[in-house]
Amino acid sequence: MARMRDEESQNLEVELLIEALFRRFNYDFRDYARSSVVRRLQHAMTRFHCPTISHIQARLLNESSFLPELIDVLTVPTTEMFRDPTYYASLRTNVLPILKTYPSVRVWIAGTSTGEEVVSMAILFKEEGLLEKTTIYATDINMRSLEHAQRGIYDTEAIQKATLNYRESGGKQSISDYVSVAYGSAKVDPSLYKHVVFSDHSLATDSVFTEAHLISCRNVLIYFDRTLQNRATGLFRDSLVRGGFMGLGNRESLRFLEPAAQFRTVDETNRIYQKL
Ligand SMILES: C[S@@+](CC[C@H](N)C(=O)[O-])C[C@H]1O[C@@H](n2cnc3c(N)ncnc32)[C@H](O)[C@@H]1O
Repeated sequence: MARMRDEESQNLEVELLIEALFRRFNYDFRDYARSSVVRRLQHAMTRFHCPTISHIQARLLNESSFLPELIDVLTVPTTEMFRDPTYYASLRTNVLPILKTYPSVRVWIAGTSTGEEVVSMAILFKEEGLLEKTTIYATDINMRSLEHAQRGIYDTEAIQKATLNYRESGGKQSISDYVSVAYGSAKVDPSLYKHVVFSDHSLATDSVFTEAHLISCRNVLIYFDRTLQNRATGLFRDSLVRGGFMGLGNRESLRFLEPAAQFRTVDETNRIYQKL
């Protein structure tokens, strides 16, 4: 009985914190998968030495510097360069030949995190001779991650791991051609960022972003519940030109979502779709 009461109290604390984040700061976690938010908040209690979730809420409302720290814990930044290499191989074979026929190309990477996916996409587009006529819009709600992405500095271990992924993705050169290593870290060649625009955009609260030819949103929808997955994929549908492509990656599927009927499947394994 006491345990049930504890659980009820914790559920209420979670509700109140999520409501406070939305009403005070317009960060909307109301339609995220609740079990994952609870796990992240339990982690936050340890990290911030808060005995309860209500203590986290008190800090959020009273300390101006606390918001980015909490957003850091609530969002999951895990990423790597050429993550799931077959995705990039499939884009190279199935999508880029069609994008090549357009006079200019707009790519939207939603939930870009610390930018490894942007670097990978820029390298892919460069190798296929498309980068010069492409603009890549890279968005996220985590401002710290976006700042990291803009700096373009990664540790050398990440680059070593990327080497293998890059090769598996069908990379035509060597990843070391795109980075310069100094003092234990690797700086990405700034010319790759010439066509990248970083921006704060939330799939939960913001609207259509750009007229895109390709949208890549991988490992983001898994943190949303069905309502928010429908909202996000609806935004993608409305942001894509007719015949535009959407890549969701192998952990997410369009199959049970509302916009499914407006897409055809290009690659079932890598969950790449084309707007009809
Ligand atoms: C696990 S990372 C995925 C990074 C990259 N796309 C990849 O597949 O490697 C998830 C990212 O989604 C972002 N995110 C979470 N909620 C979001 C929202 N409502 N709108 C946009 N991005 C969001 C997080 O901040 C995080 O950077």
